[in-house]
Amino acid sequence: MADLLRAGNIRAIGVSNFSPAQMDAFRAVAPLHAVQPPYNLFERGIEADVFPYAQKQGLAMLAYGALCRGLLSGRMTAETSFPKSDLRSGDPKFNPPRYAEYLAAVAALDRFAREKFGKRAIHLALRWVLDRAPNTIALWGARHPAQLDPVQDVLGWKIDAGAMAEIDKIVAQNVRTPLGPEFMAPPERAAA
Ligand SMILES: NC(=O)c1ccc[n+]([C@@H]2O[C@H](COP(=O)([O-])OP(=O)(O)OC[C@H]3O[C@@H](n4cnc5c(N)ncnc54)[C@H](OP(=O)(O)O)[C@@H]3O)[C@@H](O)[C@H]2O)c1
Repeated sequence: MADLLRAGNIRAIGVSNFSPAQMDAFRAVAPLHAVQPPYNLFERGIEADVFPYAQKQGLAMLAYGALCRGLLSGRMTAETSFPKSDLRSGDPKFNPPRYAEYLAAVAALDRFAREKFGKRAIHLALRWVLDRAPNTIALWGARHPAQLDPVQDVLGWKIDAGAMAEIDKIVAQNVRTPLGPEFMAPPERAAA
């Protein structure tokens, strides 16, 4: 990768699902410009390590799972079910008893988004990722072009500190036993 960068064949180098220790090892042999961790307003584990590391090292952060596998889209209901082949069928967030808690949180976030910003939960969730740090990108898995329509409502506004705190309160009030992204992220790699 370092050779490709030096030769001008690539403009930047990124890693995904690396821990800070793994990024340190990587940076000992090649420059690093971007990291891709799981991150959304329900799954904030990286705030303990990868997020501050990325800020300190000036890495762009491409957060994947920004909609928490569709949970934050606002489209899911108690009746939504997933085939066995779907990753979500094995994630406790999408199964009783936690699913109801997460759905209640999304409904409350949707109310908040409408009242405070004239937006919906999906816009709030994507904006939330973008407003956590200046160099943060929200990756969002659209399965067909129409699922990208919300893009225009994500642009041109910001979530201020007060609204961030309100969002934290809504999540804490509704999700009593929060879970991380471990059911989506691949198992941690062996030391780089
Ligand atoms: N580096 C890694 O280890 C890693 C791991 C996972 C993902 N990723 C990357 O991150 C991207 C996003 O992750 P993700 O797809 O897992 O999670 P996501 O963006 O949190 O959720 C994607 C799901 O959200 C739903 N959705 C998207 N747009 C919607 C809309 N406008 N309205 C309603 N529902 C909507 C779709 O659900 P339905 O399918 O039910 O329509 C889709 O399956 C992936 O495409 C991939 O490139 C990287």
